[in-house]
Amino acid sequence: MSLMTVKYLQELKDRNEKITVLTAYDASFTKHLEQAGIEVILVGDSLGMVVQGHDSTVPVTVDDMVYHTSMVSRVRERALLIADMPYHSYQNKDQALENAKRLMDEAGADMVKFEGAGELVAIAEHLIKNNIPVCGHLGLLPQSVEELGGYKVQGREQTAADKMIEDAQALVDVGVEIIVLECIPQILAKRITTEVDVITIGIGAGVDVSGQVLVLYDLLGITPGKRPKFSKDFLKELGQGKSVTDAIANYVKAVKDLSFPAQEHSFN
Ligand code: KIV
Repeated sequence: MSLMTVKYLQELKDRNEKITVLTAYDASFTKHLEQAGIEVILVGDSLGMVVQGHDSTVPVTVDDMVYHTSMVSRVRERALLIADMPYHSYQNKDQALENAKRLMDEAGADMVKFEGAGELVAIAEHLIKNNIPVCGHLGLLPQSVEELGGYKVQGREQTAADKMIEDAQALVDVGVEIIVLECIPQILAKRITTEVDVITIGIGAGVDVSGQVLVLYDLLGITPGKRPKFSKDFLKELGQGKSVTDAIANYVKAVKDLSFPAQEHSFN
């Protein structure tokens, strides 16, 4: 079990201290994250792209998530551990509950995350009623990237922005306490954070959220090719002779002192 609680994260939000979140998919990196004092570890289905070599998160299975979450939970000491529910693993209440239980009971997660709202709000409610804490994910939804027409900023039009605020409120109304906001205008992320009573964790959502998350491999410059505008290679920035731990510690410092994300990592 984690020593970190949602109540403590809420206290950080209340005193305007930013929450630090990073992805991890194995034991060694988890130890580095713990050493740097990361508050929340996300076993993201981004592992499908950065570890498994797929070109989207869609092929990731529940077995894959159980396997990687187990590696992380085995050495996790303090951080809250959230595990992604992969594509098509939460299509109805029974299936979602069965798969979420595997991630919690078998793999050791403290909370599960899934993408979207609408009909899925009832799924979130069902899990929460069965004592499974749920983290929401709004904005750019990588599992629906085909339908969204690619990796694009979401919520720029007024109607889409209003809808996202309604979606966030609907999730909160059934007991969701944390929502990841991916790739949305900074002003919209700020509205959700102030108008909805929820802890918001941004990735490409600007600085006015409760906390930040990055894909660890982007932060360390491991991911080959072009990295997303919203990410930053913290290892390269430190220069020669610096370690993975230094880079993660620098990310923690930059999130806490609000120097990350800068305008160049954010969207209008
Ligand atoms: O899968 C993942 O790593 C994520 C983050 C990008 C938020 O969902």
